[in-house]
Amino acid sequence: MSKQLWGGRFSSQKNQAFASFNQSLSFDFRLLSQDLEGSMAYAKALHKVGGLSESELTQILEALSELEETTSTDQTLLTAAIEEGTEDVHSFVETELVKKIGDVGKKLHTARSRNDQVATDMRMWVRQAISAICDEILELQKTLVNNAKLNQDAVLPGYTHLQRAQPVLWSHLMLCYADMLSRDYDRFKDVQRRADVLPLGSGALSGNSWNVDRDFLAKELNFSAVSTNSLDATSDRDYIVEFISAASLTMAHMSRIAEDLIIYSSSEFKFVTMGDDVATGSSLMPQKKNPDALELIRGKTGRTFGSLIQLLTVIKALPTCYNKDLQEDKEALFDTFDTLSASLQVMKSVIASLELNKDKMLDAASKGYQNATELADYLVKKGVAFRDAHHAVGRLVLTAISCECELQELPLEKLQTECEAIEADVYKSLSLDATIASKASFGGTSPVRVAEAIQNFEAKITDLSHT
Ligand code: ARG
Repeated sequence: MSKQLWGGRFSSQKNQAFASFNQSLSFDFRLLSQDLEGSMAYAKALHKVGGLSESELTQILEALSELEETTSTDQTLLTAAIEEGTEDVHSFVETELVKKIGDVGKKLHTARSRNDQVATDMRMWVRQAISAICDEILELQKTLVNNAKLNQDAVLPGYTHLQRAQPVLWSHLMLCYADMLSRDYDRFKDVQRRADVLPLGSGALSGNSWNVDRDFLAKELNFSAVSTNSLDATSDRDYIVEFISAASLTMAHMSRIAEDLIIYSSSEFKFVTMGDDVATGSSLMPQKKNPDALELIRGKTGRTFGSLIQLLTVIKALPTCYNKDLQEDKEALFDTFDTLSASLQVMKSVIASLELNKDKMLDAASKGYQNATELADYLVKKGVAFRDAHHAVGRLVLTAISCECELQELPLEKLQTECEAIEADVYKSLSLDATIASKASFGGTSPVRVAEAIQNFEAKITDLSHT
């Protein structure tokens, strides 16, 4: 038998360079278990419409399960097939089937095409990949929320434009990261819903000439819906674009977290120290401890964005129905999954390893006029219009800068030179605790709100972990 499924029409051997250019087994072997599962379901559907006898079905199902068992523990068959130049995972399965049961194995592909087959495999793979990614997102969120819970007493400056703005709780920052990841989780679940549509039974493009029961196939393969147009079903890769797009946003979020922590661990900030288990040294400078784990997450974000553009470009202006260009979806998808999954796990280890330098953070949170807005608020409460208050406080900041002190260190008489409404009770409102406690709006950084948010998050994570 020719190594190719389609050898009959050809009279010469394949050009070597083209054969290796054309093959996908070296990477689509990752679809093997989906391909076997899909093939078993298809064999049953074919039997239901008289395409296979009872005994042929039994032989095929037994051979496919045997193949599943062998290949799940032993890579020898696959490695040999890759070396021999077997074209793809679908050819591999059929070749092995025929090796085991002879001519009966040749019947399985009746009215099925690799086009509806690969589309089905990919959707099954993506569905499963999303479940794995969502579990990993939840794990990272648990670590963030746990860190928030353990460090509710830590404060640091909140930054805008990377300039000290207003003090916030460290826990509030951890929950900020957890919130970003909640959106990512939801996005992946949305993609999972759209990936959960069965293309099998669409044939090469126009449908299945044996009228296999597609609802039966959907049930067997646990799909919630059946595709409604065979032309579309065989070449739709939207769900892969969506997967990589959701992954790109998750990586973008993680690159932001990485950047924050790289900055906070620098000698200039010294807010946090990373565990030795997730840092590296320099081959030349003995004193160095580098945040490589975070830098790699930040850097790998680029390859995920690259995969998104790659796949969008592959499908752009593709003529309707299957074209071989679509084989290029796989490496982009697999690489994105591997990159994202590893990054989520590494980020979790980094967060778990963090040691906080709370004194250093407190010191930074207490300086740099981060209570200036509080002073303006204080004046508004005394009846001054906000814009006038803002102006007066701005002048007082200038005074404090020239005296090289903080606002709360200015004597009352000095404060009153800019605004008569200021009284002795002003100092209470300017304390760090008062500044943070005043942000008690829902979603704000006051300790009461953050404690509530931690509780809500814990309940949400427990809920999602059980679904
Ligand atoms: N390896 C191919 C892919 O990944 C399988 C489908 C091949 N279909 C075809 N008509 N040549 O796209």
